[in-house]
Amino acid sequence: MAKTLITGGTVVTAADTYRADVLIDGEKVAQIGQGLKAAGAKRIDARAKYVIPGGIDVHTHMELPFGGTFASDDFETGTIAAAFGGTTSIVDFAVQGFGERLAKARDAWLAKARGKAVIDYGLHVIVRDVNDRVLREMDTLIEDGVSSFKLFMAYPGVFMVDDASIFKALTRAGENGGLICMHAENGGVIDVLVKRALARKNTAPKWHALTRPPEAEGEATHRAFQLAEMAGGIPLYIVHLSAAQALEQVRLFRDRGLPAYAETCPQYLFLSIDRYDEPGFDGAKYVMSPPLRERWHQEELWKGLARNDLQVVSTDHCPFCMKEGFRGLPKQKQLGIDDFSKIPNGAPGVETRMVLLYDGGVVGGRITLSRWVDLTATTPAKIMGMFPRKGTIAIGSDADIVVWDPRATQTLSAKTHHMRVDYSPYEGRKVKGKAVTVLSRGEIIVEKDRFLGKKGRGRFVKRGSPILQQ
Ligand code: URP
Ligand code: ZN
Ligand code: ZN
Repeated sequence: MAKTLITGGTVVTAADTYRADVLIDGEKVAQIGQGLKAAGAKRIDARAKYVIPGGIDVHTHMELPFGGTFASDDFETGTIAAAFGGTTSIVDFAVQGFGERLAKARDAWLAKARGKAVIDYGLHVIVRDVNDRVLREMDTLIEDGVSSFKLFMAYPGVFMVDDASIFKALTRAGENGGLICMHAENGGVIDVLVKRALARKNTAPKWHALTRPPEAEGEATHRAFQLAEMAGGIPLYIVHLSAAQALEQVRLFRDRGLPAYAETCPQYLFLSIDRYDEPGFDGAKYVMSPPLRERWHQEELWKGLARNDLQVVSTDHCPFCMKEGFRGLPKQKQLGIDDFSKIPNGAPGVETRMVLLYDGGVVGGRITLSRWVDLTATTPAKIMGMFPRKGTIAIGSDADIVVWDPRATQTLSAKTHHMRVDYSPYEGRKVKGKAVTVLSRGEIIVEKDRFLGKKGRGRFVKRGSPILQQ
């Protein structure tokens, strides 16, 4: 078995920051300590660098079918981009077709990932149709390592399920140990606002944000937690939380001692609603749901991260190109040129999450180094049932490790990123920090800006029940 010795670095985990060498034997971490020796081992010099657990992005949409097109990254391009950014595992969302078995969705996504993914991946299933058979199927999927299910309170007729369905799914998750992940926006109200805007010929991208007010997110978040409480105090995880009104609800239920959890995403920490005013159709770059909010929400979200009312930073990576024909891709954002409600929802981010949070959070003095690791790797691994195999540097854990240069600087740009999308929401932004060497299960897959891994080397991760801590 090949051995690799990472020497002279500063190991950062969610708990500690200390100087140590890390010895990898095959796919696992074998020893951690000072002055380690290993004859014949490959050596990685990590002096003046951080040695961190590989990032875990628990919210991605590779090739998601949406609004008549598909998210532009597939499991190959998307996971290569993730690796360049220091992310070594993702959890992607398979989509149940109406009337279809959940296993069919799972198998379809496994087929998309197999032979393509370069890092390890788990799957959630988006449930569109809650019935007795589907509820029973949740149990078997959990046994097979798909332990979380996303429900939508938005997109009527497409993804949205009613409160009764949510209540039933929550009750079942309470019995089988699965986790319900919720897209919390009031889809009914949003639909009325969208129809009104279009009737008044308000068709520009900014109307996407104006018809999805933060109160619609706050209301749905409250309702979701209330349903989880009625179902018996069942754990509930809110995805892509963007608004202070929703955060207030997370805090309220956590303060009552309920197992309430939520993630936010870099776009909500760094970008604001004024982006929709960019010239021409450029506001479409930021059409995602929930939409970007007024700037003041950002400080609230940062406080939420620092105080553990928000436990995870994921990306909701769901890229669509602005121009038709980029790398042979069909029309995507342009589908909504005359009608904002037809712009496919989503934006790229899987490559830039770690550095944005490092730069804005750690360098910006808002969170500690350990909290950065906690938010981007350790707690995602715990909540999504991958810990301690993933999400930490410990003896016996997978050697998913990133050597991070805190002094490197980079300028984020679509010209240099690896995501298959023709724009960056952060174009021109200068950031500090960079993943210089990335190992996945002991194998160096990124080194000195070069991808060294093999297409299809990534493996499906069977996940367990969430490990939940208040
Ligand atoms: O706009 C978004 N968020 N697109 C992806 C689908 C979802 O709701 O997560
Ligand atoms: Zn969503
Ligand atoms: Zn999403």
